[in-house]
Amino acid sequence: MGRRSIHSLRVMKERAERICMVTCYDYPSARAAEDAGIPAVLVGDSLGTVLLGYDSTIAVTLDDILHHTKPVVRGSERMIVVADMPFGSYQVSDDEALRNAARLMKEGGATAVKLEGGNRVVPLVRRMVAAGIPVMGHLGLTPQSVHQFGGNKVQGKSDADAAQILEDACELERAGAFAIVLELIPAELAREISTQLRIPTIGIGAGPHTDGEIQVWHDILGLIPDFLPRHSQRFAKLGTQVRFALENYRHAVREGIFPSKAQTVDSKPSMNQILAELFDELEAQHRADVEADIAAPVETDA
Ligand code: KIV
Repeated sequence: MGRRSIHSLRVMKERAERICMVTCYDYPSARAAEDAGIPAVLVGDSLGTVLLGYDSTIAVTLDDILHHTKPVVRGSERMIVVADMPFGSYQVSDDEALRNAARLMKEGGATAVKLEGGNRVVPLVRRMVAAGIPVMGHLGLTPQSVHQFGGNKVQGKSDADAAQILEDACELERAGAFAIVLELIPAELAREISTQLRIPTIGIGAGPHTDGEIQVWHDILGLIPDFLPRHSQRFAKLGTQVRFALENYRHAVREGIFPSKAQTVDSKPSMNQILAELFDELEAQHRADVEADIAAPVETDA
């Protein structure tokens, strides 16, 4: 059947079908997301915090994203795979940005790229789209600018900020973006943008009125037991389950319960051993036959 096209997301919006996205960073996760019927995943630079242990996404490199995009593409046949352009990979010059985006598609196999920002990136988005690179925008709280914002704060609360975000969204659509992530903005603003745009909006911390939702893999699966952003929800508690499983494993190894005979391969038996085992089997069978004979009722001629 082949991979879905980015246009299918617009068709979903036209049919008022909500679009469910999740971040994804490796092969088994991609297989699970595909099996769950998720239409599109993002190899997000959030991997910097949830996988690599950084305190922001700023240190993530293009090679990090490439490294994680490849297995996600290998683990999926149908899903749209959007690769995030990390901080520094599209700010230096538009030429470099195009080269980097092309690498994510050529080497990584990504269907599309995502980059953060409003009017500042509009000319770049226009060039990328003209070059055949599908682009997803990202407005509101753009985590690569966390230091400029002074933390992970809700954006677009004042009238002026809200108007700017709406204007940026319209410009990104005009520049050819196929969808826009709206992160941490008031629900009413997200509703207004979603109504005005023909391309889908994908919310995270933007309320229920967007055309779709994206969440971080580790958050929705409860892989980080001691942290959950306010805009997320755990649909499983895998972090706790993983810990229990590892404790059980440690206990079984320490107590000599694992590995047991079931996991043990004996060395190749010699011919004498094979014959001895065969003889034992025959002898056991013979004994069983004799016992069955003795137990059988004696037939008489009467
Ligand atoms: O990197 C990421 O995971 C993201 C999503 C939160 C939209 O950009």
